[in-house]
Amino acid sequence: MIKKCMFPVAGYGTRFLPATKSMPKEMLPVVNKPLVQYGVEEALDADLTEICLVTGRGKRAINDFFDISFELEHQIAGTDKEPYLASIRDVIARGKFATTRQSEMKGLGHAILTGELLVGNEPFGVVLADDLCVCEEQGVMAQLVEIYRRTKCSVIAIEEVDEAEVSKFGVIAGVEEEPGLYAVTDMVEKPEAKDAPSNLAIIGRYVLTPYIFEILRHTPPGKNGEVQLTDALLTMAKTSKVLAYKFKGRRFDCGSVDGYVEATNYVYKNIYLQDKFS
Ligand code: UTP
Repeated sequence: MIKKCMFPVAGYGTRFLPATKSMPKEMLPVVNKPLVQYGVEEALDADLTEICLVTGRGKRAINDFFDISFELEHQIAGTDKEPYLASIRDVIARGKFATTRQSEMKGLGHAILTGELLVGNEPFGVVLADDLCVCEEQGVMAQLVEIYRRTKCSVIAIEEVDEAEVSKFGVIAGVEEEPGLYAVTDMVEKPEAKDAPSNLAIIGRYVLTPYIFEILRHTPPGKNGEVQLTDALLTMAKTSKVLAYKFKGRRFDCGSVDGYVEATNYVYKNIYLQDKFS
């Protein structure tokens, strides 16, 4: 059974400067909730209740967010503002939270290896909170966990993107074993369109076996001088098996300003207003 979900949240978020100069990107609100809350809710809905945060300098607001604020609770208890706290109270009640810090930003692969301390020798989920995913029924993490339970393989979420967009993503090539489920044969981080093995892009949701830590320990820095998770996953695909699943739902790239604005408009119209008036 998978219980843990890792959130690498140490990145600088330079695309959102100056907003992210003294505030974590993951705390940017999409309507009334910070990005990281959407990700944690998705993990909890998949029964991954042990939340492992890999933070860094300037990210204390994330730790505080998942802790009880006694002053605020005291001020708001019994008032008509209390419902505004309901969703975060629920998250804090359902989850257990642990933190470690990535002392140097050496890439996503390095952040995940840093999180080994919290995860140990068991399979685990990974959520990149700047990818906000909206699904009709099951969340993406629950979809991946279901595939892991059947196959016991590492699984990554993918989606089809326009050819012009492939250079923003890790891209896979694979053999389709079931509708929408591929055995990965190749993987390239942010390829030029002409070098891309397909238009199947990796998004920020994974279920990984602990073998990934062993591989990451021996993965040299790749693109941009960072330890790339994609490089480690390719090694895993070649030495054991990695599956890629075309998840059911919609993803917004909230690491970019355009995607963030799109997500905000979508969530306001389709989730916030619906819940508010239901
Ligand atoms: P990104 O490259 O999208 O995030 O990394 P970033 O570096 O914060 O953003 P920009 O490009 O400067 O605007 C994807 C995820 O990996 C985490 C980030 O926090 C983000 O969730 N990450 C990245 C780390 O935790 N540590 C790193 O060293 C790099």
